[in-house]
Amino acid sequence: MVKTVAIASDHAGYELKTVLQPWLQELGLTVVDLGAFNGSESVDYPDFAARLARGIREGEFERGILVCGTGIGMAIMANRFPQVRAANCLTDFTARLAREHNDANVLTLGSRVVAAEYAKAIVTTFLRTEYAGPESRHQRRIDKLAALAPNGGK
Ligand code: RB5
Repeated sequence: MVKTVAIASDHAGYELKTVLQPWLQELGLTVVDLGAFNGSESVDYPDFAARLARGIREGEFERGILVCGTGIGMAIMANRFPQVRAANCLTDFTARLAREHNDANVLTLGSRVVAAEYAKAIVTTFLRTEYAGPESRHQRRIDKLAALAPNGGK
C-alpha cells in the first residue's frame, strides 16, 4: 500500500476532497493537500493538476488524486506531463485495471459523477492494487506511451 499521496481539487471538487483528505489520513497515509482551500471561489483546474503533476515528476509524491466536477479536465492536464499516467475512474473495476494494466500514478475523480462513499471505494482500490509488473505484457505498452510521443509529442 502506498504511504504518501497528494490530493488537489478545483472548486467543484473541493467538497469531495474535504471528505477524502481526512479519511486518507485516518487510514494512516501521509496526505499532502495542494488546494483548493475553499469551494466558494471559482478556480481553474489546470493550476491544481499541473502542481500535482510536477510533484509526481519530481518524485515528491508516489501517487496523486485530483478531483474536479467530472475528473476529465484534471486528467487532460495531468497527462500532459510525460511521467504522469492519470486515469479518470468512475468504477472500482476501472480503478483496478488502471493500476494493474496502466500503472496509473494519478487518479482523477468527478465530484458530480461519483458519490463520496463510492469514491472512497475507488480510491481504496487505486491505492491498494499493484501494477502487473515490468515482466508483464503491459510494460511494452507503457513503454510505447513515451516512445511514440517523445518530448511530449513535439
Ligand atoms: C468546473 O465547473 C468544471 O468544469 C471542472 O470542475 C471540471 O469538471 C472540468 O473538467
